[in-house]
Amino acid sequence: MRRLRAKVRDYYSGTIERHGPIPLGVDWPNAASQYLRFVQLLKVCDFEKPFSLNDFGCGYGALLEYLAMRHSEAEVAYRGIDISASMIAAAQVRWASHDRAKFVVGSRCSQIADYSLASGVFNVRLGHPLADWETYIESVLRDMQAGSRVGFAVNFMLPHEDKPAEEELYRSKPQRWVGFCRKKLDCSVKLLGDYGLREFTLLIRRKPQTAAPRQAGSRKAARRSPR
Ligand SMILES: C[S@@+](CC[C@H](N)C(=O)[O-])C[C@H]1O[C@@H](n2cnc3c(N)ncnc32)[C@H](O)[C@@H]1O
Repeated sequence: MRRLRAKVRDYYSGTIERHGPIPLGVDWPNAASQYLRFVQLLKVCDFEKPFSLNDFGCGYGALLEYLAMRHSEAEVAYRGIDISASMIAAAQVRWASHDRAKFVVGSRCSQIADYSLASGVFNVRLGHPLADWETYIESVLRDMQAGSRVGFAVNFMLPHEDKPAEEELYRSKPQRWVGFCRKKLDCSVKLLGDYGLREFTLLIRRKPQTAAPRQAGSRKAARRSPR
């Protein structure tokens, strides 16, 4: 898994070093599709109240551009995390005057936020075997769940119907990951598709914790019971 992560890191360090803080620098063809993904992912958030946000695989922080444009009133404590130090360096320069944005190099959420989002993080497989790549995705999803108080959102590319899978890219049908999040993470999942890209987005929410059953006659239970 370490070698896999190092390869991913080097790939994205290369894109940002070649192109700078523009969509091509994070391997997206244009800002329109990049923003359309943010529209879907941000549907997991409740904009009626202030919230904290982990932007996992933040790149140069393009999500902040979108938030400023479409949700300028929102109070968002933003934390961008990226595996590539070059990416984080570019983000820090780009957002030097932003007072509520923090950026860190890493491949874990490492701090709990209300929500976590990841856009485009699973797409470039770089020839790794499918089984390894899916184990890696599972570990990222588990980390995002642990790092999210309310919920998290991710996107995936859909397979082509008439072309074989590309070695360099990862594509999946929704059921693979809807099933994982429902059964293994015990979360509720909303699937978004048909938004104009050959992709889907999952909005994943933690289920409300049910209170532990009270033991009759237990003093501990009595102390904890609501007044
Ligand atoms: C396709 S780019 C998208 C960047 C940004 N989310 C956006 O939409 O503008 C994917 C980003 O995820 C980062 N990334 C990939 N795998 C990661 C991991 N395991 N941990 C942290 N960052 C990762 C890459 O370095 C890259 O910046």
